Amino acid sequence: MKPKHHVFVCMNQRPPGHPRGSCGGSGASGVFETMMGEMEKRDLFGQIQVTGTFCLGPCDQGPTMVVYPEGVWYKGVKPEDVTEIFEQHLLKDQPVERLRLM
Ligand code: FES
Repeated sequence: MKPKHHVFVCMNQRPPGHPRGSCGGSGASGVFETMMGEMEKRDLFGQIQVTGTFCLGPCDQGPTMVVYPEGVWYKGVKPEDVTEIFEQHLLKDQPVERLRLM
């Protein structure tokens, strides 16, 4: 079955002190783990796909993620934001404006 949404979560990790920073260094692994916990709790496998990726580009705004097919980007996502992203955007198609990058 084709998923309704595919979420790419930047997991890129650069060394501490790197001038570009990285989502991995800003807590992306906690965001990804929380995403997978929500997937399991809500039994969404097959409907929504979550994939960890390397750098998406806007490293200084991390942790970043992008939701397809609509191409909504989020910045500065924290684990405590993940429930809202699921409940508003992934389940009700209303992007979370306060976290939106583009
Ligand atoms: S390291 Fe995440 S956007 Fe570049």
